[in-house]
This record gives sequence, structure tokens and C-alpha cells, in this order.
Amino acid sequence: MPYTLTVNGRASSVDVPADMPLLWVIRDVLNLKGTKFGCGMAQCGACTIHLDGEPTRACVTPVSMVGTKKVTTIEGLSADATHPVQQAWMAHDVPQCGYCQAGQIMAAAALLAKKADPSDADIDGAMAGNLCRCGTYIRIRAAIHDAAGRARTSRRAAADAKPAAPAPVTPR
Ligand code: FES
Ligand code: FES
Repeated sequence: MPYTLTVNGRASSVDVPADMPLLWVIRDVLNLKGTKFGCGMAQCGACTIHLDGEPTRACVTPVSMVGTKKVTTIEGLSADATHPVQQAWMAHDVPQCGYCQAGQIMAAAALLAKKADPSDADIDGAMAGNLCRCGTYIRIRAAIHDAAGRARTSRRAAADAKPAAPAPVTPR
């Protein structure tokens, strides 16, 4: 059956069975291989993508359930790896084998979009469903705090760069 999906800002038409998991569509039809298959049963988080900004397990999401929601994969998080989470991940050398990391980054980005300055407890809660067999959890937590700081700095810089409002004109 044909579906039109908006993936990373681009409309893509796919002709696939209604029950095909979105992960299959992303990887095998659209050839976006950054999102990983781990457990296939919503248990590990390796396949985390965003649906309208919500972290979602693509392995258990049938393509027919996507509708008009915007799909964002790791490839669409930023054009050039400049998302604060990606920058912090590099600064902290977070990945070990790397297999879980696309899902970790997508979960972290979704958390920061909702909570600009998360506590350790917020991070642990939001990231609990994303497993890492290499045990990079400590670096993940540090990188999320770092990413929150980077995002704050960019927001401040953007606000400072705004032209000052013109002075009010007082009638004589
Ligand atoms: S592959 Fe989707 S949660 Fe593990
Ligand atoms: S970095 Fe290896 S599974 Fe997470």
C-alpha cells in the first residue's frame, strides 16, 4: 500500500505492507541506516526515532500508524552534526561500540527539547529505556548536561544577536 511519509523534512512515497515496522521502511526502503535494529520488541531503544518530536520505538511502530506525523531519524537531527547533543557526544567521547548510540542521541535530544535543564533524575528517567551493553551511561549523563549548557549558550547568543528594538518616537 502506498504511504507518503515526511522523513527528515522530505516527503517520501513508499509502497509497503501496512504492518511493516517503520524501522524496516527507514532502513531497507529509504536506506537510512543510522537507526539500528536491536531487540525488535521495544525493549532496548536502539531504534529510537522522533515522531513529531516524541521519542518512538520504530521497531514496533507499523508504517500505517505514522500518518502525517513528522519522522526524524539520526540523519535528520542536524545537517552537519551541530546539534548540541551531537557536539556534546563528541566532546565526551560517549560511544564505545556505537551500536546503541543513535537511539541514545535521539532520546537525549527529545528530553532536552522538553526539559532545557534536566536533573540527573530526569535524565535517568528519560533514558531508562535505552540500553547500552558497553555501559556508557556515565558519559551519556555527562554529555546530556553538557548539551543542555551548549543549547543555553546558543540561545543566549541568538538573543544577543537580535537587533535592538527602535527607540519609541516621542511626539513633540
Ligand atoms: S530494536 Fe526497537 S527497542 Fe530494540
Ligand atoms: S556503545 Fe556499545 S552498546 Fe552502547
